[in-house]
Amino acid sequence: LVKQAWLNGVFLAADEAKLSPFDRAFLFADSVYEVTAVYDGRPVDLDLHLDRLARSLRELGFTSVPDRAQLMQVHDRLIEDNALKEGYVYLQVTRGAYGGRDFPAPSVERPTYFAFAEARALIDTPTARNGIGVITVDDIRWARRDIKTTGLLAQALAKTEAKRRGEDDAWLVGSDGFITEGASANAWIVTADDKIVTRDLSTIILAGVTRARLATSLAAAGLSFVERPFSREEALVAREAFATSATTLVAPVVRIDGVRVGSGLPGPVTRRLQGIYYTAIGADPGKAAPWLTEES
Ligand SMILES: Cc1ncc(COP(=O)(O)O)c(C=O)c1O
Repeated sequence: LVKQAWLNGVFLAADEAKLSPFDRAFLFADSVYEVTAVYDGRPVDLDLHLDRLARSLRELGFTSVPDRAQLMQVHDRLIEDNALKEGYVYLQVTRGAYGGRDFPAPSVERPTYFAFAEARALIDTPTARNGIGVITVDDIRWARRDIKTTGLLAQALAKTEAKRRGEDDAWLVGSDGFITEGASANAWIVTADDKIVTRDLSTIILAGVTRARLATSLAAAGLSFVERPFSREEALVAREAFATSATTLVAPVVRIDGVRVGSGLPGPVTRRLQGIYYTAIGADPGKAAPWLTEES
């Protein structure tokens, strides 16, 4: 359980954090969020997360602008107070509560700010070692998936269905048959001709921070990748598949709709990218991810 929260400028015990039911996040999901990984006691790519937060707010026409320096301090304090070595910080900004239920946004905004931190292993996890199985479901979300809102019902239902079917997660398929992204991750495959492929950025997917960081890191390692849509069918016959997100980093996907991807084990390209990504965030893969160099 989360013990501590930061709510509207105040650090308090999590069970003392109280919000109005008239908050527009509760009534309309009028709210955005970020989840920033913490490794070795430091937030990973917090700049990119705060850039995306500011963009999400702008795209939704928020008039208030968060105090970036304050948010950075809040991350540091939550990490320190929770003695976090590995885990994440959650940050949410809502358009606030105004004592009623009016659809139009108020002209004078009083946003709600909320954050907390949680310890959790990110690198040495069963997911990273063994990979995950995903199901595919129709992508029934709204059209602006580039904005990171807390309107996450479609994703929650997709993940619930995955669990119900005994799998770990869900990938979402557009009406055109192409995979958009994971329910809370970007989707990647390694094709039969060894190309690393992930969907190009647009309003129909979230521009993942992990995706961006992996992209620059793999380029720096002399690898290339292709940004284009790929279908469920192409994913089913891919050599490898993996997903990227702040809480799973680079997660091998070894099963799609019950069909083994490649050998059914995390593949060599995914392993290499895990190593590249861990190094990029300051980890020593030899120590933090020993399975990468173990005989398989
Ligand atoms: C729909 C969706 N796509 C992609 C991502 C990955 O983004 P990031 O790497 O910034 O965590 C997330 C993260 O929650 C997400 O919800």
